[in-house]
Amino acid sequence: MTPERLDVEQALPRMQALASRTWSPESRHHPGQLAWSAAYGEPDVLDLGPAYVLDDAWAWLESLDWLEVCGTDPAAVDAVVTAALAGAADEVTASTLETEAVVTGVLADHGFVEVESPWFTHHHLDLADLPAVGLPEGYAVRAVRPGEHEQRAAVHRAAWSPTSRVTTAAYERLMTIAPYRPALDHVVTTADGEWVASCCVWLDPTTGVALVEPVGCVAEHGGRGLATAASVSALTAARDAGATTGLVCPRGDDDHPGPARLYRRIGFVPGARTRTYRWRRGD
Ligand SMILES: CC(C)(COP(=O)(O)OP(=O)(O)OC[C@H]1O[C@@H](n2cnc3c(N)ncnc32)[C@H](O)[C@@H]1OP(=O)(O)O)[C@@H](O)C(=O)NCCC(=O)NCCS
Repeated sequence: MTPERLDVEQALPRMQALASRTWSPESRHHPGQLAWSAAYGEPDVLDLGPAYVLDDAWAWLESLDWLEVCGTDPAAVDAVVTAALAGAADEVTASTLETEAVVTGVLADHGFVEVESPWFTHHHLDLADLPAVGLPEGYAVRAVRPGEHEQRAAVHRAAWSPTSRVTTAAYERLMTIAPYRPALDHVVTTADGEWVASCCVWLDPTTGVALVEPVGCVAEHGGRGLATAASVSALTAARDAGATTGLVCPRGDDDHPGPARLYRRIGFVPGARTRTYRWRRGD
């Protein structure tokens, strides 16, 4: 069982297909999260490592010291982790959902030990329970249109950080990567046409799961329900396109509790959390 070593660009469709095929509320990877992680910045800036791929498992060195793993077959997961560690840095961090017993077990067999780290809680929502979109006066919400990558990247950066790696060129490329759909990428605008909040939703048509990633609102317009409105609006569009379940993965630790509160107010219910593990060559 020898995994293929591929650039993530080549491997992405196969990685997404496996994530989709093995999806459950107990699994970490969603095709939209993989697309975002592989393409939110320009390739030479992200400096992504290779993926090691079999039919029933993959391991991706998102960077040479950060490992993502997917699969439910222990032998296949072991083979891809073995191959990835051979090509990795001397110290590697990996994150799994606490419910992923096979991946966690294989990492432990290889000598990974749990470490303290910020963690994330996966939240789920039955989209039948989605509330109506509520917007304060003076704002409108709508889907992004093809060709609006420059404004879309700018509103993301304005909410997250001026030094964010989400550039115009990166967003233009992201918009070409499945399962991105402009109809599920929503922005809130002011009466003057300024873009002030945004939410991108990624629909996996195989599972009907709509992932919210990312959400942002510029600070000057914060606390008015605009990130909530962008999220509910994009999720409503996803439901109209066939989605049945919403998924969002905000921080679960106490250092950044606001986003989880926002999603729980929409109706998202907390599920499993992530755990972080570290490996050192030779240990
Ligand atoms: C986190 C973030 C998206 C919130 O955006 P926002 O538009 O301010 O969010 P909302 O207004 O919908 O909700 C935020 C707060 O405003 C309050 N609020 C919402 N509508 C309100 C209204 N009409 N009147 C008064 N307060 C209101 C909410 O109760 C909430 O309060 P809480 O956080 O104390 O529970 C924004 O601060 C941001 O972009 N941060 C950086 C990026 C980030 O962390 N993104 C989320 C990662 S998962």
